[in-house]
Amino acid sequence: MTVSTYQDTHRHSLLDPDAFWAEAAKDITWIKEPTTILEESESTPGYTWFADGTVNTSFNALDRHVQLGRGSSTALIYDSPVTDTRETYTYSELLAKTETFAGALRSLGVGRGDRVLIYFPMIPQAIVAMLACARIGAVHVVVFGGFGSAELATRIDDARPKVIVAASCGVEPKRVIKYKPLLDHALELSTHTPRRCVIFQRPQAPAELTDRDIDWNTLLSSPDIEPADCVELASTDPLYILYTSGTTGKPKGIVRDNGGHAVALQWSMNNIFDIGHGDVFFAGSDIGWVVGHSYIVYAPLFAGAATVLYEGKPVGTPDAGAFWRLIADYKVNGLFTAPTAIRAIKRDDPNGDAIAGYDLSTLRGLYLAGERLDPDTYQWLTRVLDAPIVDNWWQTETGWPIASCLLGLEPMPTKPGSATVPVPGYDVQILNSDGNPVPAGEEGAVCIKLPLPPGALATVWDDHGRFERSYLSTYPGYYLTGDGGYIDSDGYLFILGRTDDVMNVAGHRLSSGQIEAAVAEHPGVAECAVIGAQDALKGQVPRALVVPTTVYSDRVDTLPAELGDLVRAKVGAIATLAGVDIIPGLPKTRSGKILRRTLRQIVDGQTPDIPSTIENPSIVGEIVKALRR
Ligand code: COA
Ligand code: AMP
Repeated sequence: MTVSTYQDTHRHSLLDPDAFWAEAAKDITWIKEPTTILEESESTPGYTWFADGTVNTSFNALDRHVQLGRGSSTALIYDSPVTDTRETYTYSELLAKTETFAGALRSLGVGRGDRVLIYFPMIPQAIVAMLACARIGAVHVVVFGGFGSAELATRIDDARPKVIVAASCGVEPKRVIKYKPLLDHALELSTHTPRRCVIFQRPQAPAELTDRDIDWNTLLSSPDIEPADCVELASTDPLYILYTSGTTGKPKGIVRDNGGHAVALQWSMNNIFDIGHGDVFFAGSDIGWVVGHSYIVYAPLFAGAATVLYEGKPVGTPDAGAFWRLIADYKVNGLFTAPTAIRAIKRDDPNGDAIAGYDLSTLRGLYLAGERLDPDTYQWLTRVLDAPIVDNWWQTETGWPIASCLLGLEPMPTKPGSATVPVPGYDVQILNSDGNPVPAGEEGAVCIKLPLPPGALATVWDDHGRFERSYLSTYPGYYLTGDGGYIDSDGYLFILGRTDDVMNVAGHRLSSGQIEAAVAEHPGVAECAVIGAQDALKGQVPRALVVPTTVYSDRVDTLPAELGDLVRAKVGAIATLAGVDIIPGLPKTRSGKILRRTLRQIVDGQTPDIPSTIENPSIVGEIVKALRR
């Protein structure tokens, strides 16, 4: 048997991680090169990467390219059909803006280790703010613009930012969303108060400022502001916190370090995405999600490529040809998006007719992640596009792909429904409930044998115990991904879905608990369960099953609309309930745990499994009847 480059590289990465990552670490610029690569540590997870190295992430994203004489290369392309704007920034220009804003943050007292919360739509100032934080060692906490006040308040209280930077509004195709009132309300709800809020005023909806606020442009025009240079940071210092949905209502603050992150993302750009200096990468995600952090902002800039920041939608801004136009206009070499976006395009343009109008010859790969790439969508893409279609599986916690076809290393044949093979650095194993590896083809919990590679989460912000409980305690020695799946006899990984209460709505990760907390606040709700119901466009959509309080039992007709409004206000429009069902009770185990799998099966029209531990078996039939009414 010939050993492929992939197999050889994967094996080498697991057998000798020190040598593998020492080599990869040479591709970033260190202030002090690490002498230890993978070091044991007494605290969980039991190791650290590049512990004695020092580095600056902003330097690796910007300065080093300018110092290499590539200052006039394009770094950022901003394309906004919703505001009819197009702008291009070179590396020198983006560096100048970042240095100045970093100086502005410093003038507000922000320094190493301070948190800065960023609440922005997809505009260049968001990227400037992120890179400015990295420059001075502040820890950015970007909150997705689609989240409402309550979600924002939770994150403010958990991260305790010294400064908040926000735009006055976001522009959605159908309406302008005023961010400032959402921020003001979040600050009323939160117990923590930031020192200042810097507001970037957009002409679509300028905000009224209070004494606590300072206008972005006014701040930058202050004569006291000096452009800030990069500070020397420990490789293990936190670069950012990014909140993600866990199984409870309280989001988890995933902490990413500086050095491991830069090494891993740089490696991924070369080996997975085959993108380097002078290439153009377009990740059609949002900076509020991990795909946006890694592949809109950091990885393309580490690689010296140009990144496309698109403030628009795959359809409706103005049509289903939007992505193809972007590829043609900017000569995009790699496109990254979520399968749901492709399903929306396919719905509006089933034959891919819009493609004919654009030159897509520069496209070398289309990457899909955020949810399972369903075989239908995969087949459609292979029919209409002449570029490799690459499903890649990962999560906020890992920060970069766990499984993928590696176009830069060795393009391998892909299989519909599979995210291809484990990426070098990841020892992916499928475990049964006893924690033992299962034979090829058998389903189980998808786990990663420790150590996780560089770039993966270091801890959960302010709650190391939660990090251990959520990810490390179920199967000692392994990281629990929360996904179920199997590896076939060729070594291909198939992800079948979450095994916990996390749902995936249009590529957005939401937890049942988060939405249930909003629903449960209504006085008409005695008990509820929110589950992810199957949806042809969005993969899953949240559906609430509600047991009304007795005082409300004669007013249940108004509940769906009222609960819908409540969820939109508390969580945000992305979590809009797709339905509210009034039911007589919830199926529970004798220990009081809601049987969500049973509920999901009922809602999806399948025959429900009724586990032997159920306390109230007759309720299942009653719920089926209630849903049929
Ligand atoms: N800020 C504020 N509101 C937002 C928002 C944002 N960044 N993103 C979405 N919303 C709002 C929308 O305006 C909409 O509000 P409405 O109900 O008042 O109209 C609501 O949230 C739902 O939006 P969305 O989930 O986008 O659904 P849609 O039906 O409008 O569009 C798709 C469907 C598939 C086109 C869209 O979901 C999409 O582009 N998905 C891709 C998501 C993605 O890239 N995820 C990243 C994973 S890598
Ligand atoms: P997030 O942390 O928001 O990126 O969501 C991560 C979760 O999305 C994973 O745990 C999976 O459940 C799901 N996911 C992401 N990418 C894929 C993929 N390519 N195939 C299947 N599921 C995916």
